[in-house]
Order: sequence, then structure tokens, then C-alpha cells
Amino acid sequence: MKVGFIGLGHMGAGMAASLLKAGHQVTVYNRTRSKADEFVRRGATAASTISDACRGDGVITMLADDAAVETVVYGSAGVLASLRKGTIHISSSTISTTLSQRLSADHAAAGQRFVAAPVFGRPDVAAAGELFVVAAGARDAIDAANPLLDAVGKRTFFVGETPQAANLVKLSGNFLIACVIESLGEAMALVAKGGVDRHQYLDILTSTLFGAPAYKTYGKLIAEGTFEPAGFAAPLGFKDMRLAIAAAENLRVPLPLASLLHDRFVALLAQGGDKLDWSAIGGLAARDAGIDRGRSEG
Ligand SMILES: NC(=O)c1ccc[n+]([C@@H]2O[C@H](COP(=O)([O-])OP(=O)(O)OC[C@H]3O[C@@H](n4cnc5c(N)ncnc54)[C@H](OP(=O)(O)O)[C@@H]3O)[C@@H](O)[C@H]2O)c1
Repeated sequence: MKVGFIGLGHMGAGMAASLLKAGHQVTVYNRTRSKADEFVRRGATAASTISDACRGDGVITMLADDAAVETVVYGSAGVLASLRKGTIHISSSTISTTLSQRLSADHAAAGQRFVAAPVFGRPDVAAAGELFVVAAGARDAIDAANPLLDAVGKRTFFVGETPQAANLVKLSGNFLIACVIESLGEAMALVAKGGVDRHQYLDILTSTLFGAPAYKTYGKLIAEGTFEPAGFAAPLGFKDMRLAIAAAENLRVPLPLASLLHDRFVALLAQGGDKLDWSAIGGLAARDAGIDRGRSEG
């Protein structure tokens, strides 16, 4: 397919590369233009404007947050003004359910199609084309988007025709991962202060009742205290806690743990953690326990 790709950050870079590898004709656009160069070397076309990235069968956006998506979509020569009728906008950024709903309505009013397709997996997983995609949108739009979603992910979960449902699933998933990070950080602080080796402890956990990828991936980062370079930056993790809380408020669902995690991110960022991976909230408990002062300071 002929597809535009907007947003060549940590995740977008791997996703655009996967699309090229799968044989799609990819036109890339990034606010910081230099990030497109490497993709041109790999066979992509560089767009000098957002409009130029919207001339194919569809466009995928993988941008930081709601504000970035709003700028790119609603700008005077943005995605909404540029896509041809019947073509698709696939939004893979982790954004609010309210923006997803608004995008869905505005694209429909413009005769365009919209698919929300946020993803699970970190940048290395994106680079390997092995993301898990959670997709929602009209059936015909999903069918049209499938060859592109297949290229970036190893499995796509279709969660219905209402796009924001996919964003809700993504936000709930990141809320759960953050719960794992915080609770692992607390448990590891406890055993480490008691003299148990963190790596051995993690091995015990992941070989017994906690063999899930979230425990393995984040347990390793916490045990090592390696929070730099960030694969998923702490300010974006903080954004997701805020978005999960906002979605929960709209639906009148109390999420007491999300409120706690929100404050853990405030503490991390207050201590200079902007450049750290979001898993650095898993290092706060050790610091609170008076250990690890020298490890991966923010
Ligand atoms: N990293 C992960 O592990 C992960 C996993 C799953 C989902 N996500 C989600 O995926 C999205 C992208 O994450 P990421 O880690 O790839 O972020 P990132 O590395 O910070 O990349 C953000 C991208 O958004 C662009 N951008 C930011 N503000 C913009 C604006 N106002 N106008 C136009 N472009 C703008 C950036 O352009 P510049 O290059 O010019 O800054 C860059 O291309 C986020 O919604 C995140 O929550 C991340």
C-alpha cells in the first residue's frame, strides 16, 4: 500500500521501518526533519509537509501526546485537511479517549475513515515488527488497515467499531504496567534492604508465579537500576496516568491506584527524572528506604 507515516520517534522509527520491510511504499514526515534521512536511505520518500504524507491510501500517526496529534491533524494543512475521501487515518499514539472520539467524528464528517490502533511493546519490539496492536473502528476501515497493522505487529486485537475503545484498552494496560513497576520496586527495595540479591529475587519471581513479560522486562530494569536511556520516557508515562484517570473520571470509575501512581510520577519528575525511562518510578521505593542513593540518579 501507499502509506504516509508521521512521527519518527522511538516507536515510529521502528514501525516505519517495519512497513518498508513489508514492501509498502512509505512517505515519512517528522517535525524534526533530519530523522527522516535514514528512512530515505532505506527506500522511503521524505515529505516536506504533512499534506505530502497524506496523498496515499492512508496515513499512520505515531506522536507523543494529544497536543502533538491535534497540531498534526487539525493544523491548516494537517491530516484532516489533506486526506482524500475514503482514505484512512490510523492513529497509533497513546491519546485520550476524548480526542479519539473527536477524531473519529471529524474524519467521518470529512468523508475519511479513522482507526484507533494503539500498540503494546517497547521500541525494540517496534523495531522487530512484533508489537501487539489493539484496533477499533468501522469494520471496512479495519479491513483496509489490516495489511499495515500486520506489518507493524505480530497480532492485532479488534475491540469493536468504536475507536476510543482501543485507546481505553491501551490506557488501562499502561495503568496495569505502572502498577507492576511500582509494586516490583517496593518489593525489591524490601528484599534488597534485607540483604537479598535483586537478580536472584527476580529469578524466583519470574520462574514461579510471575512469569509474565511485564515482570521480566521491568524487573530487569529495576534490578539493574538502569533507567537511561529511556525507551519510554517518564513524562509520557505520566501522561498515560493522567489520561487513564481522565477516562476513569468520565466513566465514573474510581482508580485509587492510578491516583497513587500519578503522584509517584510527580515525585520522579520533581527529582529531575524527565530524561529517565518511566520504569524509574520503580526506583523510588529504594530511595525512600534509604538505599540506592548512588544508583541512576534522576
Ligand atoms: N516508547 C514506548 O515504549 C511506547 C510504547 C507504546 C506506546 N507508546 C506511545 O507512542 C507514542 C510515541 O511514543 P515515543 O516513545 O515514540 O515518543 P517520542 O520518541 O518522544 O516521539 C514522539 C514523536 O512525536 C513528535 N512530536 C511531538 N510533539 C509534536 C508536535 N507538537 N508536533 C509534531 N510532532 C510532534 C516527535 O517529533 P520530533 O522528533 O520533532 O520531536 C516524535 O516524532 C506516545 O503516545 C507513547 O505514549 C510509546
